[in-house]
Amino acid sequence: MASLLHALLSRIVLLLMIHTLLAKPLCHPDESSALMEFKRSFQITTAEFRCIYPKVQSWSPNRHGDCCLWDGVECDKASGHVVGLDLSNGCLFGTITSNTSLFHLLHLESLNLAFNDFNSSSIPYGFGNLSRLQYLNLSGSEFSGKVPLDISRLARLTSLDLSSKWASLEMPNIENFVQNLTMLRELDLSLISMPSPFPHILANFSSLKSLVLSNCGLHGEFPVSIFQLPKLEVLDISYNENLSGFIPEQQRGNPLKSLSLAGTIFSSSLPSSLSNLSQLAYLALQGSKFIGQIPASFANLTQLSYLDLSNNNFTGGISHWHLPKLNYLNLSVNQLSGALPFSFENLTQLAVLDLSLNNWQGEIPNSLWELKNLEYLALQHNSLSGTVDLHKLENLTTLFLDFNNISFISKTKFNATLPKLSTLSLVSCNLHEFPRFLGYLNGLECVDLSNNKIRGSIPTWMWNGSKETLMNMDLSHNFLTDFGNSHINLPLPQLTYMDLSHNLFTSFLNKQINLALPILTYLDISSNLLETALPSPPPLARYYNFSNNLFGDIQSICRARSLFILDLSINSLNGTITSCLGNIVSLTILNLGRNKLEGMIPHAYPKGCALRIIDLTNNRLQGPMPRSLVNCPMLEYLNLGYNQIHDGFPSWLSKLTELRAIILKSNKFYGPIETYQSQFNFSSLHIMDLSNNAFNGDFPSKLLQSFHAMKEIVGQDQLEYMNASQRFGLLLYTYKKVVDYEMKLMNKGTEREYSKVPYALKEIDLSNNKFEGCIPDSVGDLKSLVFLNLSNNILSCFIPPSLANLIVLESLDLSRNKLLGEIPQQLAQLTFLSSFDVSHNQLFGPIPRGSQFNTFGASHLP
Ligand SMILES: *[C@@H]1O[C@H](CO)[C@@H](O)[C@H](O)[C@H]1NC(C)=O
Ligand SMILES: *[C@@H]1O[C@H](CO)[C@@H](O)[C@H](O)[C@H]1NC(C)=O
Ligand SMILES: *[C@@H]1O[C@H](CO)[C@@H](O)[C@H](O)[C@H]1NC(C)=O
Ligand SMILES: *[C@@H]1O[C@H](CO)[C@@H](O)[C@H](O)[C@H]1NC(C)=O
Ligand SMILES: *[C@@H]1O[C@H](CO)[C@@H](O)[C@H](O)[C@H]1NC(C)=O
Ligand SMILES: *[C@@H]1O[C@H](CO)[C@@H](O)[C@H](O)[C@H]1NC(C)=O
Ligand SMILES: *[C@@H]1O[C@H](CO)[C@@H](O)[C@H](O)[C@H]1NC(C)=O
Ligand SMILES: *[C@@H]1O[C@H](CO)[C@@H](O)[C@H](O)[C@H]1NC(C)=O
Ligand SMILES: *[C@@H]1O[C@H](CO)[C@@H](O)[C@H](O)[C@H]1NC(C)=O
Ligand SMILES: *[C@@H]1O[C@H](CO)[C@@H](O)[C@H](O)[C@H]1NC(C)=O
Ligand SMILES: *[C@@H]1O[C@H](CO)[C@@H](O)[C@H](O)[C@H]1NC(C)=O
Repeated sequence: MASLLHALLSRIVLLLMIHTLLAKPLCHPDESSALMEFKRSFQITTAEFRCIYPKVQSWSPNRHGDCCLWDGVECDKASGHVVGLDLSNGCLFGTITSNTSLFHLLHLESLNLAFNDFNSSSIPYGFGNLSRLQYLNLSGSEFSGKVPLDISRLARLTSLDLSSKWASLEMPNIENFVQNLTMLRELDLSLISMPSPFPHILANFSSLKSLVLSNCGLHGEFPVSIFQLPKLEVLDISYNENLSGFIPEQQRGNPLKSLSLAGTIFSSSLPSSLSNLSQLAYLALQGSKFIGQIPASFANLTQLSYLDLSNNNFTGGISHWHLPKLNYLNLSVNQLSGALPFSFENLTQLAVLDLSLNNWQGEIPNSLWELKNLEYLALQHNSLSGTVDLHKLENLTTLFLDFNNISFISKTKFNATLPKLSTLSLVSCNLHEFPRFLGYLNGLECVDLSNNKIRGSIPTWMWNGSKETLMNMDLSHNFLTDFGNSHINLPLPQLTYMDLSHNLFTSFLNKQINLALPILTYLDISSNLLETALPSPPPLARYYNFSNNLFGDIQSICRARSLFILDLSINSLNGTITSCLGNIVSLTILNLGRNKLEGMIPHAYPKGCALRIIDLTNNRLQGPMPRSLVNCPMLEYLNLGYNQIHDGFPSWLSKLTELRAIILKSNKFYGPIETYQSQFNFSSLHIMDLSNNAFNGDFPSKLLQSFHAMKEIVGQDQLEYMNASQRFGLLLYTYKKVVDYEMKLMNKGTEREYSKVPYALKEIDLSNNKFEGCIPDSVGDLKSLVFLNLSNNILSCFIPPSLANLIVLESLDLSRNKLLGEIPQQLAQLTFLSSFDVSHNQLFGPIPRGSQFNTFGASHLP
């Protein structure tokens, strides 16, 4: 009986023991409610881009009383305390305050709140109280402000990731911050602003496996002993622009796998012993100051899959490499030279190969065309020659061969399609014909064949397969004459009118939904010999440049309702300017100069007009100026020179406060410019050319007084030019097009064509009119004038001595007037004056004495 009882009891004890072993401990109620309170302090934003899964949503004290079963929560098996919380990408939105219930979870060892949206709040004090933390990850969570110092009390941390993605955290003293975190195995503080010297103390952190301090504003000298840390596998200190250092000799056995020193001022050559890093798979040194040869020992880095040495100052050639894992190789923008190594056949995994902007010479080895995995190939700006054979590169998406001496393209019977090729750039490749393979592509998006020697027709087969995908086509600077069969064969599918303005389409959309819409946005066929009717721009065109051809007939250009830049200059366009141009509200740059256009300039500029440059120079335009131009508040440059415009002075232009250059020369403007009540405000003007008109009346002194920009000498870079730039594009491709002001100006007695006009060139030309009266003293206020031409008017009185204040004046022409008296001696101070003409006046007396004046010919003096 007793033994039976004993057996029974021991059985019960056993069962109890089994029960306690199997039962999961219930979580502690205070921790459960702390978690619930934490949950309630946030909104859940599932639409947020970082949001993957809102783990907290399922948390509920009723359904699962045991918080240890909740998503993202981990409890200690024995004690039931919450030791781990992983809410990364958890769709939380809100702030964490320092009284947050999170800080009641004092047993936490691992906490991951990465990729939530903490609404630019600061990291609260309190993490330092979670003294058992070993893993803390707050990366990518939109915190801002200073990183609180109490985190640095967490001496058990082995992994700390505070890397920001949007640069708004600060850490004033990293050395102080990390000094007690000596157990760290992983540290990532990328994009936290810490403008301090590199923390040398890290060289003592012998447990470090991964150290990532990219983009932190660190400076000073990098302690090379960090390379010797015995466990370091990942070192990324890239984009600390003032961090210097060098790569020391490397020992065998170093476990480094990934090294990024890009965007620093590391400046050594690479030690041959780098090849002792036998585990190295990722090496990124681009955009630094490395010099010297690439060591031959690179051939031994057999684990390497990513190598970027671009934008340094490497010299010499490269040897034969057998790097079977190499997938990405970028050596662009260096001074590498010699022949390309013939060992491409052993780089079978290469997907990206960029050797551009070096001095490579000789034939492209045929083995290059065997790299079947190539997706991106860039060889532009070298001195390579040879035959290009693409037919095996079926995954190629991008090909740049510009500025080489390539006898494109394979003479083989190549008719394979390259279905993925979307970007093809063959600028200045000495091409004499359109490469045949263009006809076999069916996803081409960008093609640039400019600056070649292609003659004759633009063949239709060229875009056979790419009508729906082509976005950017540049055929400029060739010898093209027509579109074949005298039809206008732009790569457009048949399309009746459709308003697609202000939309964004991508090739992706187009391919997926098969809209079959023409998405050609950028079209440059300038500088050819095209002599047809002008093709209508495609409806989504942003940039349309057909300048410098022989186009005669101007058709409707108004189908393109989204045009930004329209350049039809230097053609033989006749007829009138269509008033529908005013409907293109996006237009910022309009150049119809040097054609045979006649009639009136249409009064077509609606409110909100975005035009910044209007160049209609050298046509046969008549009539008054369109006053609706005042609706174009951004107008910077207006050139109506060399027409037959018959109007009074357009003083209303002074409402356009951005105007920097106005050219009205050689027209039929007439009448006085100012009356006693005139008011002007041309405060930004650098250039005003009213020459060769029939203006009369008093010298327009109030007008000139309003040229405030000419009164300041700002230390303007001589090499900066006046231009207007415009950004445009479809999602995948954006362009910034910079359009320089072009004009003809009188420079020291001769007319000169300026294809670029320096900002510093400030000019007033009132010559060949009928202005009367005196030249006012106030002209001397226009201190930054470089050219002043008042010749051939009826100006009288004395030459004002104040002209000596024009200290950067280079050319002064007052000839053919009725000026009296002596030439002011002060003019001798004008040390830049190199052209001076006061002939045909009524001047007398001594010539000013000074080095400049000794050089002026007698015919220019009285
Ligand atoms: C987010 O920050 C803004 C601005 O500080 C504040 O108005 C808003 O209430 C905050 N929202 C949350 C959920 O914290
Ligand atoms: C935390 O403090 C803020 C004021 O700073 C208060 O509004 C909030 O209710 C407090 N939250 C908790 C959980 O005590
Ligand atoms: C952190 O702990 C200290 C004492 O250990 C306490 O005074 C303080 O209130 C705690 N801070 C937070 C934010 O919980
Ligand atoms: C580091 O630890 C020492 C000794 O425990 C302590 O005096 C010091 O304040 C700590 N530094 C930081 C930044 O926490
Ligand atoms: C931090 O969390 C993010 C998101 O889960 C993860 O990608 C990253 O690797 C983590 N950092 C560390 C050091 O574990
Ligand atoms: C590659 O390593 C082997 C073995 O260590 C060595 O013999 C050879 O010289 C190295 N090759 C180069 C190019 O350094
Ligand atoms: C590159 O190195 C050459 C010769 O060492 C030097 O003359 C040149 O200035 C360097 N260029 C740059 C951009 O550092
Ligand atoms: C290519 O690799 C093979 C071994 O896979 C080797 O025999 C051959 O020499 C290598 N070729 C070059 C040019 O390095
Ligand atoms: C091209 O890419 C596809 C998909 O990535 C891959 O399956 C195929 O093997 C590649 N072709 C070649 C020749 O490498
Ligand atoms: C492609 O070329 C092969 C021979 O190289 C030929 O047999 C075939 O007919 C050609 N296909 C086309 C569509 O031209
Ligand atoms: C424009 O020029 C073309 C020939 O280039 C001519 O046929 C046409 O009649 C001209 N149009 C006008 C309006 O002068």
